[in-house]
Amino acid sequence: MKTSAEIRETFLQFFESHGHRRVRSSSLVPRNDPTLLFTNAGMNQFKDVFLGREERDYKRAATSQKCMRVSGKHNDLETVGRSRRHHTFFEMLGNFSFGDYFKKGAIDLAWELCTEVYALDKESLRASVYREDDEAYDLWKNRIGLSADRIYRLGKKENFWAMGDTGPCGPCSEVHFDSGVSPQGHSDCAPDCDCGRYLEIWNLVFMQFDRDQSGVTTPLPSPSIDTGMGLERITSLLQGVSSNYDTDLFRPVIDEACRLIGAEYGSQEKSDVSLRILADHSRACAFLISDGVVPGNEGRGYVLRKILRRAIRHAKMLGYEDPIVYTLTSLLADHMKEAYPELGKSRDYAAEVVLNEEKKFSATLHYGLQRLEEIFEQSAKKDEKAIDGKKLFTLYDTYGFPLDLVREIADERNLSIDEKGFYAEMEKQRNRARAAWKGAEQSVTPIYGELAEKGLQTTFTGYDDISEVEGRVLALVRNDRIVDELSQDHEGLVVLDRSPFYSEAGGQVGDRGRIESDDALAEVEDTFSPRAGLRLHRVKMQQGVLKTGDRVASSVLDTERINTARNHTATHLLHAALREVLGEHVKQAGSLVAPDRLRFDFTHYKALTHDELRHIEQLVNEKVAQNIGLRIDIRDFDEALSEGAMALFGEKYDDRVRVVTVPGFSMELCGGTHVGRTGDIAVFKITDEGSISAGVRRVEAITGPRAVNRFLDAEDRLSRVAATLRVGSEEVDGAAERLTRQLKESQKRIEQLQLELAHKDSGKALAEVRDIKGIRVLSRKVENLDRTALRSLAVELRNQLKSGVVVLGMPANGKVSLVAMVTPDLTDRIQANNLIQQIAPVVKGGGGGKPEMAEAGGKDPSKLDSAL
Ligand code: SER
Repeated sequence: MKTSAEIRETFLQFFESHGHRRVRSSSLVPRNDPTLLFTNAGMNQFKDVFLGREERDYKRAATSQKCMRVSGKHNDLETVGRSRRHHTFFEMLGNFSFGDYFKKGAIDLAWELCTEVYALDKESLRASVYREDDEAYDLWKNRIGLSADRIYRLGKKENFWAMGDTGPCGPCSEVHFDSGVSPQGHSDCAPDCDCGRYLEIWNLVFMQFDRDQSGVTTPLPSPSIDTGMGLERITSLLQGVSSNYDTDLFRPVIDEACRLIGAEYGSQEKSDVSLRILADHSRACAFLISDGVVPGNEGRGYVLRKILRRAIRHAKMLGYEDPIVYTLTSLLADHMKEAYPELGKSRDYAAEVVLNEEKKFSATLHYGLQRLEEIFEQSAKKDEKAIDGKKLFTLYDTYGFPLDLVREIADERNLSIDEKGFYAEMEKQRNRARAAWKGAEQSVTPIYGELAEKGLQTTFTGYDDISEVEGRVLALVRNDRIVDELSQDHEGLVVLDRSPFYSEAGGQVGDRGRIESDDALAEVEDTFSPRAGLRLHRVKMQQGVLKTGDRVASSVLDTERINTARNHTATHLLHAALREVLGEHVKQAGSLVAPDRLRFDFTHYKALTHDELRHIEQLVNEKVAQNIGLRIDIRDFDEALSEGAMALFGEKYDDRVRVVTVPGFSMELCGGTHVGRTGDIAVFKITDEGSISAGVRRVEAITGPRAVNRFLDAEDRLSRVAATLRVGSEEVDGAAERLTRQLKESQKRIEQLQLELAHKDSGKALAEVRDIKGIRVLSRKVENLDRTALRSLAVELRNQLKSGVVVLGMPANGKVSLVAMVTPDLTDRIQANNLIQQIAPVVKGGGGGKPEMAEAGGKDPSKLDSAL
């Protein structure tokens, strides 16, 4: 039997031997494509190549691509488990042609691989083509020799493929495997029937069009090929099993789950569904986390959480109460790390993330069940025919409490639920989410579009030249309008043909400085680039008039620039040090590089210990002291990645990338400005460490003169403390400890003495006892006690009274403390808590207690006498 690893490798080798470049899978988190939540097809990473916006040095490629289909146009989430053929996460094998071979080449290659390499039975293969695609039909019939009864012409739904609502698309042709029998007893069905007779194994898309927002399609620059074959399906065929879940991709996970739970796969449909969901979802979680997604309440994090929770619930449905998914993600990582090394690197981190969610969600389930009971009750009271779908959706949405569980419970009690209402609410929510997702792309100021359309190009000189850079003003903007000039005190935007100003990107803030013409001076407050190629300087005019066409000299504020460079290089060193000290699961989740500080967010599950922080600081400073020269090269993207360069998720990179290397320690794709040698950083100091969301930590740090000053200030402070303590700087900690201990002891002693004094006084106090309606009452003002001593004095007096009421009041620091005591024999006549509630308001306070003892605080010492 062929293993799935061999099947994957065979595919890639086959296409390599036919002139295809083997390209590694891109991340599940798409790079800079706001139309996409997750990578959902092999072609995603080539979208711009299909559209002719980007060129590569190869025209044929083959990949095994990590995909998730859990949202939007391609969503299999609800199908998983019940179907043996669908997954949230799956691997898509694909070959691509960018304006090279087209339909004939694609069909030839597919047929050869299927029949000669994978040796599938020719007699069982069927092809479907798009209804109007005579060319493809003809190729299958006359070139391949498939008889007409084995070729199906199908409609748009089956045989026209599009990535999403917009983007590259085209007619397609699918290869199906006919098992010969319909599990549902159909006698005459076609590949578009989902009875299970036909297994779609390969989709060959003839990429021909680009579809825009309004649905209009325009032809692509050159017809191309995009194919996709689910590894799970082809593996099931080649391994001769009837379900993807019976292949070696899933069985180890299912078997382990069975072992832990004590279940048996194949014994009952209901538990099988749960086991399949558990296996599929654990796998998706492992892959998502290894690509830097962390559970959260929106976007990708929300999807991860939802999948994870579904897995957890299905484990519970199988009767397993303890956390389990985290063991499965680890197993999976061990099993697949050879093909996807990132899984191995994040294995333990993923387990921690998952375990944490598992623990939390148990509580959620518990809470959700309670809330469901309330909903049932309310519904019964109102005599509703069906349980309110809107409420159930809120339950689902807020607590992740799934409808099928509600359905099950409702069934058991013969209740019906308003599923229509539920789904209507879900649809509304989806629309809201979709709007929010698109909004991110569209919320741009129109003026940027207008400037971009003019094709204004700026040459950036600022990697090398930052002062007195000569250039010309190409355009000026004021109040969102293009203008001819900016005069004194105006604020606006300037576009130059050559500029030394770095525009905000990759966490590094935009440069500041000045632009000067013969008679004008503009101060640059920020530089940013709202669209690729467009560099805007936000200026405030200091003097004169700046006109379009003016020759200018531009200078970046060099002190800021060098500090920013220090912080940027230090950020790379920090990143590498974090990975070395904490582990390779550490992934950058965001950063800020400014002249005065740096901030670095990264995935990690717990707070850093003091030792870890110190270790990281030492490591970075060691690299600084080694004064290593940085290397900056423009290189091939894939090559840089395969050598271990770190790239950011969700970031857009060209095929040729800028690689910043600190030899022997760090290599990152980065467009930022850096120091020449690490020694320029001078010194590195972490100033803060904390959590910003579940699984994401943030470190803040400083470098250069600021860090040096911080050390000097600390040293000064230490000397001052030492002088006050009258010891040497090295003895400060011992002396401080000693002093604190002595202080505590002295305080205790003072309290004792105060109490003794107060007790001595109690004889005098007893003389003040009054008799009110046969009750002995003592109310008295005392001073200089703490609250414990005050209470203890009250006890003492009460004991001496034997039977009676004691009220003590004490003013201290502008406040008042009151205590009241009543001996047990009198509490049926008078209660300390009632008493205190009557007198506390007199001193503007409140309190409470028990019939025998009560206390209060107040804010007005001047009324204490009258209260007493
Ligand atoms: N893009 C097509 C699909 O996903 C073929 O790879 O089916």
